[in-house]
Amino acid sequence: MKALLVVGTRPQLIKLASLVKVFDRDNIEYEIVHTGQHYDYEMDYAFFEELDLPEPVANLKIGSGLHGWQTGMMLMKVEEVYQQLKPVLVIVPGDTNSALAGGLAAIKMGIHVAHVEAGLRSGLPFMAEEINRVMLDHLSQLLFAPTDAAYNNLLHEGIGNQAVHLTGDVMADNLILFESKLDRVTLPVDLDSKSYVYVTLHRSENVDDSEKLKALVEALIEIPKQHNLKLVFPVHPRTRKRLEEQDLYNKLNGAEGIHLLKPVSYLTSLGLVKNSAMVLTDSGGLQKESFILRTVVITLREVTEWVETVQCGWNILVGVDPFKINEAVRQFINVKPRPVDALKLYGNGRASERISKTIVEYLE
Ligand code: UD1
Repeated sequence: MKALLVVGTRPQLIKLASLVKVFDRDNIEYEIVHTGQHYDYEMDYAFFEELDLPEPVANLKIGSGLHGWQTGMMLMKVEEVYQQLKPVLVIVPGDTNSALAGGLAAIKMGIHVAHVEAGLRSGLPFMAEEINRVMLDHLSQLLFAPTDAAYNNLLHEGIGNQAVHLTGDVMADNLILFESKLDRVTLPVDLDSKSYVYVTLHRSENVDDSEKLKALVEALIEIPKQHNLKLVFPVHPRTRKRLEEQDLYNKLNGAEGIHLLKPVSYLTSLGLVKNSAMVLTDSGGLQKESFILRTVVITLREVTEWVETVQCGWNILVGVDPFKINEAVRQFINVKPRPVDALKLYGNGRASERISKTIVEYLE
């Protein structure tokens, strides 16, 4: 066994789509290890089917839990898999607990680690994903930075430029890979193009804080009232749980112009982005996807790791402030940003190719 790809969450499965196709083409010997951090059909297996990913060689079935417990369980189980399969390289995409566990268990066994999507920083030292990123970047032997900003962050932290490769972003590659399918996607709601805002919300710092969640729900309810826009909102399981705990789910569901859905597939999500008037999200991936698909995006965070989306005028950071959210919606209805060749900023759809080439050379 040459390489193991360790993943466990929905965004990580998406990051594999273009990568494994190029690995196959380049004859890299690899297997996928799934930690089971995500396990609902809509969050997990549906993505294997739609993205045509190979079955994992192992599913550790860890599931949900506190961070220490979840990461610790993954460390123990993934170590057993490494002992059995003896990979020479472990590849981890993204910044989830699954990625950290995959990398940490490997390096402790002397197995080299490659981090896909290295160098992203929010500057928030207590954010779970930031902790995972910093640790992973400082223990990896191969770091694949998706953007100039990410590349520079790594050099500023003193990581030798031998290890760091500016490759572009594998999620941008996906947009080219699936471009031809996008126009044929059936959307889950029957709404005119550009008549709705596509909403997603799942970050722990937003949904686990009851005051913030309440403010966000109020802000969402106001949008159809104040602007001629509907909302389409597929609800992440974590968010649904929190909304239900506070009796907010039914409030949102009953509100005028709001369509709540189950989590949607990857292509459906891209279709929703492409046809929406704007995106309102706290996801990282959706900020880029919107930017590349030329849909403006309002980000429900104070900072972003994808700084180029803001610098080019396609993304406004509003946090959870209802006033700022409303103002940003108004601004984007009235003023459209200048078109930009966003794909170029993310490696022109060739990130997976560059990553694969570097790995082939490294393994040799
Ligand atoms: C994780 C990642 C986050 C990523 C996100 C994408 C970490 C620290 N966070 O957060 O970076 O953006 O995935 O979704 O790794 N749940 C289900 N079914 C599932 C998965 C989760 O019901 O299939 C519920 C459970 O109630 C669980 C909660 O969601 O407690 C949170 O799950 P967690 O493992 O913390 O992942 P995310 O919040 O999705």
